[in-house]
Amino acid sequence: MKKILITGGAGFIGSHVVRLFVNKYPNYMIYNLDALTYAGNLENLKAIEQQENYTFIKGDITDELFVESLFQEHRFDGVIHLAAESHVDRSILDPLAFAKTNILGTMVLLNSFKKLWKDNWEGKLFYHVSTDEVYGSLRETGLFTETTSYDPNSPYSASKASSDHFVRAYGETYGMPYVISNCSNNYGSYQFPEKLIPLFINNIINNKALPVYGDGNYTRDWLFVEDHAMAIDLVFHEGKNHETYNIGGFNEWKNIDLVTLLCQQMDEKLNRKKGTSAALITYVKDRPGHDLRYAIDATKINKELGWKPSVTFEEGLSETIDWYLKNKEWTNRITSGAYEKYYEQQYQ
Ligand code: NAD
Ligand code: TYD
Repeated sequence: MKKILITGGAGFIGSHVVRLFVNKYPNYMIYNLDALTYAGNLENLKAIEQQENYTFIKGDITDELFVESLFQEHRFDGVIHLAAESHVDRSILDPLAFAKTNILGTMVLLNSFKKLWKDNWEGKLFYHVSTDEVYGSLRETGLFTETTSYDPNSPYSASKASSDHFVRAYGETYGMPYVISNCSNNYGSYQFPEKLIPLFINNIINNKALPVYGDGNYTRDWLFVEDHAMAIDLVFHEGKNHETYNIGGFNEWKNIDLVTLLCQQMDEKLNRKKGTSAALITYVKDRPGHDLRYAIDATKINKELGWKPSVTFEEGLSETIDWYLKNKEWTNRITSGAYEKYYEQQYQ
């Protein structure tokens, strides 16, 4: 029986990964380590919390003594590391929090894993889940490949880039088996409504302004979160040691085009007059250091591991909107208190 530690499993992507692994691999023991920050929510895991092969552990990955004793106690064979501070706008407001969790937290995990297995790495794996934002910004053309140089622009992407480097360094220096994946923007159910898509869905439901940064001509490559979780499963089991895999949807959208599509789908689903949601679009001050364009070349994971996205963007977006409409209480519960304060600070 394999013992696998998933960090950040109460967050957006992590909860999809935990659900997938707990259901698909009854022979694995899945441990979910999460500090339950504003972004972590155990409600996301209701569907599997009673399963015998699942254990939740509340704790902070930056707490060296705690993490080390956890590794000594459970002797995890594999780590899938997703815990992070993940929102660019918050990293601009509080960069140190990002350095602490994303850099120091990753190092604490790496160090505990090394202490445990350094004399025999056989059958062990550290899987670091990262982002395409480490590559910086593309101009109008070109795609990020696995060999694109790192060139991060935000405190978030700089902290993720740094953590990627430490993972590589532990592989080179201590022979630690690792894989890294760098994924494009995810969307889907259980995403905290601070990122573009869930924020705008929530604002449309509540007839609030849709704050589009700058001229809205920034481009992102969007991937349905369940497709990312399936890619993580494949990379964990079949990825080659010491390799990086780029994961993306071949699905580029300019923000304003995406928002327009979202508004159309929302009008239909809410039975509102055509154009009602689009009337909420408000151009606001740009994000400092705003990356113009991200786009992933996912050829390697497609050719080597046979992965490709399973849904079109229109299907994935429609499913996502339906989920948020059905789960308004989920959003209402997490958007009170601290969220309101953040919202005021960010968008006043
Ligand atoms: P999220 O913010 O929704 O969730 C992060 C989780 O980590 C939360 O449950 C939070 O409680 C937990 N966490 C934060 N600090 C912690 C700490 N110190 N100790 C323990 N747990 C802590 O993030 P997400 O969007 O699900 O992203 C997950 C991972 O995937 C991150 O590493 C992120 O960089 C990466 N990623 C995200 C995207 C995206 O579009 N969201 C794209 C590519 C890569
Ligand atoms: P976001 O979801 O924060 O992801 P990332 O910054 O990691 O790509 O933002 C996606 C795009 O949407 C990005 O170009 C910034 C833009 N955006 C807005 O225009 N308004 C908003 O309120 C937010 C949160 C994002």
